[in-house]
Amino acid sequence: MSLLIKNGEIITAERRFFADILCRGGVIVEIGQNLSDSSAEIIDATGKYVFPGFIDPHVHIYLPFMGTVSKDDYATGSKAALMGGTTTLIEMCCPGRDEDPLEAIRLWKSKAVNISSCDYTFHMGVTRFDETTTESLKSIVAEEGITSLKVFLAYKGALGIEDTELYKTLSFAAENNLIVTAHCENADLIYENQQRLVSEGKTGPEWHEPSRPISVEADGCHHLMTFAEATGAEVYVVHTSCVPAVEAISAARARGVKAHIETVAPYLTLNSSHAELPDFEGAKYVMSPPLRSPEHGEFLWEKIADGTIDTIATDHAPFDFETQKRMGDPANALDAAMQLTGQPGNFTLIPNGIPSVEERIKILYNDGVLSGKIDLQTLVRAASTNAAKIFNLYPKKGAIEIGGDADLVIWDPEFSGEISVTTHSMATDYSAFEGKKIKGRAETVTVRSQILVRDGGWAGKGGEGEFLWRK
Ligand code: URP
Ligand code: ZN
Ligand code: ZN
Repeated sequence: MSLLIKNGEIITAERRFFADILCRGGVIVEIGQNLSDSSAEIIDATGKYVFPGFIDPHVHIYLPFMGTVSKDDYATGSKAALMGGTTTLIEMCCPGRDEDPLEAIRLWKSKAVNISSCDYTFHMGVTRFDETTTESLKSIVAEEGITSLKVFLAYKGALGIEDTELYKTLSFAAENNLIVTAHCENADLIYENQQRLVSEGKTGPEWHEPSRPISVEADGCHHLMTFAEATGAEVYVVHTSCVPAVEAISAARARGVKAHIETVAPYLTLNSSHAELPDFEGAKYVMSPPLRSPEHGEFLWEKIADGTIDTIATDHAPFDFETQKRMGDPANALDAAMQLTGQPGNFTLIPNGIPSVEERIKILYNDGVLSGKIDLQTLVRAASTNAAKIFNLYPKKGAIEIGGDADLVIWDPEFSGEISVTTHSMATDYSAFEGKKIKGRAETVTVRSQILVRDGGWAGKGGEGEFLWRK
């Protein structure tokens, strides 16, 4: 069955123009004026934008982390992504230090296969580097189709790695033409700050940001840049939140380091005051690196607009408020937190993360495009095309081109609505964007021609997505 999208305004990273798009066999076969195909399903996109499917290059769907496991699975997570216009997910595969990497990537894949409605791939987390790691990683590249790695400089004692392991991972990546994504914060400084603050009785979620100030993130970025420079590895800094972090990476780029910069949607619409809300509400906004004061968000928008920041992801990390974030509630000291973690509640026990895979494009469209901070083509570039280019998916993904996958988002700019937990598709019991008024929505969304969102409602069955093998 063919699909013909007529009369829409096509927006790509390079240009905008009015044309029809004919799709057959899951790919785009023709782009032009007055196209026809008597066997095709026709969608009239008059007055609408047609975007390439958006790519979220940093999500967590299955994440065993901080004593619990993230709330979404691929059924809910990919549905939520598609309802928001995201057609491809790149998930972080995050094995524990004692887990076998090959078994881990197979486990992570098994969570998605025949369940995900989005197309998907993974960044392989390197959480230990010993004498067996080189062979495991070679197998993961050759036999599992993965070409990007992930390291954590934070989360000491859990997912975080030591400097010798970082050096070996980056050297391996440089030799094997892989890209290394990295969470950059100085783990030792975080630990010292956490101990000091908790011992001073500063236990609420509002102390999460002071335990991981901008200097801690900038130091992590500088550290990664030093190692990238020494090894020649290509690196990609995930969830960059603040001015000195972007500056540290930009300075390294000027020295010739191959470094990409990602920021994430929560930093562009929320700020540190959200994590200061009373009665433990602030826990809903605890993520790492933390939400910053508003001037950092404004700076990030400027750096998206001028192209310094390559991509906008979400770092979707979905944890429930009542049963999971509450593990760090000081008021829970004598019951739930104690039972769950063996410690009195404090901010260090709040599972880090903000559920946001569904809301990214709405946030970027409203706070970015409609408020005049970025144009539509920058939206496409930062939320789709650049990720496809950096992670070996272009032009199959991230483009509207003949031969490319028919992953398309027909966007209705006239729609008015409001974000709410009562209507979202994510599995979490709260929305960090509750009550936000929004214009525009993904009205029709396709993955390889399959219509998975129709008239703004779910039209999928589940399992339509495919694993994206990367060479
Ligand atoms: O707070 C965050 N970012 N949670 C998810 C894990 C990570 O650091 O990406
Ligand atoms: Zn991270
Ligand atoms: Zn993450």
